[in-house]
Amino acid sequence: MRIVYVVGTRPNLVKTAPVVGALRARLPDAGHTVVHTGQHYDRLMSEVFFDELGMPEPDHMLEVGSGSHAEQTARTMERLEPVLADERPDLLVVPGDVNSTLAAALTAAKMGIAVAHVESGLRSFDRTMPEEVNRLVADELSELLFLHSDEAVENLRAEGIADERMHFVGNTMIDTLVALKDRFRSLGTAARLGVEPGGFALVTLHRPALVDGPLLGETMAELRDLAAQMPVVFPVHPRTRKMMEAEIGGDAPGLLLGEPLGYLDFLSLMADAGAVLTDSGGIQEETTYLGVPCFTLRDNTERPVTIRAGTNTLLGLDPAAIGRIPAALADRGEGPPEPPPLWDGHAAERLAEVVAARR
Ligand code: UD1
Repeated sequence: MRIVYVVGTRPNLVKTAPVVGALRARLPDAGHTVVHTGQHYDRLMSEVFFDELGMPEPDHMLEVGSGSHAEQTARTMERLEPVLADERPDLLVVPGDVNSTLAAALTAAKMGIAVAHVESGLRSFDRTMPEEVNRLVADELSELLFLHSDEAVENLRAEGIADERMHFVGNTMIDTLVALKDRFRSLGTAARLGVEPGGFALVTLHRPALVDGPLLGETMAELRDLAAQMPVVFPVHPRTRKMMEAEIGGDAPGLLLGEPLGYLDFLSLMADAGAVLTDSGGIQEETTYLGVPCFTLRDNTERPVTIRAGTNTLLGLDPAAIGRIPAALADRGEGPPEPPPLWDGHAAERLAEVVAARR
């Protein structure tokens, strides 16, 4: 049996590392080939993640880089097709909802190669989000759909996808977090940055709806106000940095703007944060597992399980709502919630069992 794994962006690496590890352990005689599309290419967005996650170096680098959605998707398809023609895999494994996910699923499906989609069935019901389109297509084309929350079952059934294709195995991103727990817990990144554990806000923002227009300027003004009440640590995604340089000037007292962080440093900060403000999907999940209050600057989430868990609050796509965070923190009940079912560090092992049984 031959398996090809396709990754392209930072969160893809976090979701896929345990899957490669578990499948290599479960099927040691199979071929395991990792393809990196190069959608993310900066050292801080890609290479450091391979180092920290123990992910095998990619066997193929497609170097598709940045571009419009069509360019990025088309370049990935064009460069992946000959690799798949050469490798002739029995299964292509692809995670998440980025353009690389869409391109890989489409290329494999056209070549008659079975697709396994990791993190299947999430829906924001907002087709203006590029990720929603990517999810819909990847799920429709996949033979094995690996689910990490129960609402995914209903979402997929509503699209006519048969239960036999669905496998509720849990959250492989949380597998990575659990595996790295001892390492990030002992790092003390907050102290290194000079902020008090429990007393600072950690911010990540990168979605086009927020950072590609005037809302970014309003958000930065709100963050400067928040920083007057609690220190704000904001490692800036390259997309956001580009827009900031175009529109906005620098630091303010209490507002620490920085480069993207490695995963261990980021997890260390997240675990120690008093609050997290984000528009990321994965961070809504990681804060849920860690029991850290998360405020999501979006109108919707494809991860309602994080709201039900009580850790995540949808602020809306409204920078003014950032001003509500201090009061919301003061009102908060005690006690971290239970993590959602099967967010337990063993999702990739269950996934590997399903793949092994399919042979
Ligand atoms: C992509 C995903 C998004 C995911 C995010 C995680 C899509 C449609 N979007 O968004 O779902 O949440 O990754 O980080 O697939 N850039 C660099 N260096 C890099 C990568 C990007 O400078 O290594 C800059 C470039 O200016 C590029 C811009 O960031 O044009 C956007 O990159 P792109 O890959 O198109 O989307 P992301 O915003 O990173």
